[in-house]
Amino acid sequence: MRRLSWLLLPLFACASPPPPAPPPTPAAPKANMAEPAHLPETVRHLVAQKMENHAFEMSNLMWAVLFLDREVAAEIADTIVEEPHLSRPLSKDASELNSHLPSSYFDYQDQLIDSAKKLSAIAKDPAQPGEALANQFGVMTQICVRCHQTYLYEPMKDE
Ligand code: HEC
Repeated sequence: MRRLSWLLLPLFACASPPPPAPPPTPAAPKANMAEPAHLPETVRHLVAQKMENHAFEMSNLMWAVLFLDREVAAEIADTIVEEPHLSRPLSKDASELNSHLPSSYFDYQDQLIDSAKKLSAIAKDPAQPGEALANQFGVMTQICVRCHQTYLYEPMKDE
């Protein structure tokens, strides 16, 4: 009997369950979005250039907020406020590139600047809790998404 148990031991060892498989890695988001159906080709490259900066700034801003690095968060928010923005057209003159953009585009742009100003003020005020910083980051993200929704996925309402 003793002998038998020695013989059985390796059998049990083999039957032990294999280590659990690692959970599948979630798919990375697609870098390219839908084509902005409501923007004329002439101004697309102007907008696309600005967006390259936004993508970079927003992901760094997210980390600054997560790490409660208020100094860097304020710096990035100030950059978003101060960087050159597309100005509202002075006339309806078609030769003016910006006149091809609907007015709602500029409204969203203003909202984004305003929300970045608020985030910077919160970051610079030590009396403001980290949660206020996170909430304001959420507000900024909402504005990015709203503008994308309007220009990339919805039928145009104004103009
Ligand atoms: C005023 C409107 C508006 C706001 C606000 C806005 N976007 Fe965009 N975004 C656009 C449009 C329009 C496009 C499509 C540009 C194109 O391809 O012609 C775009 C495209 C992009 C792209 C894709 C570029 C690519 O390679 O396809 C990224 C990334 C992006 N935006 C990031 C952001 C982030 C981050 C914010 C917020 C900080 C933001 N955007 C705010 C209008 C906006």
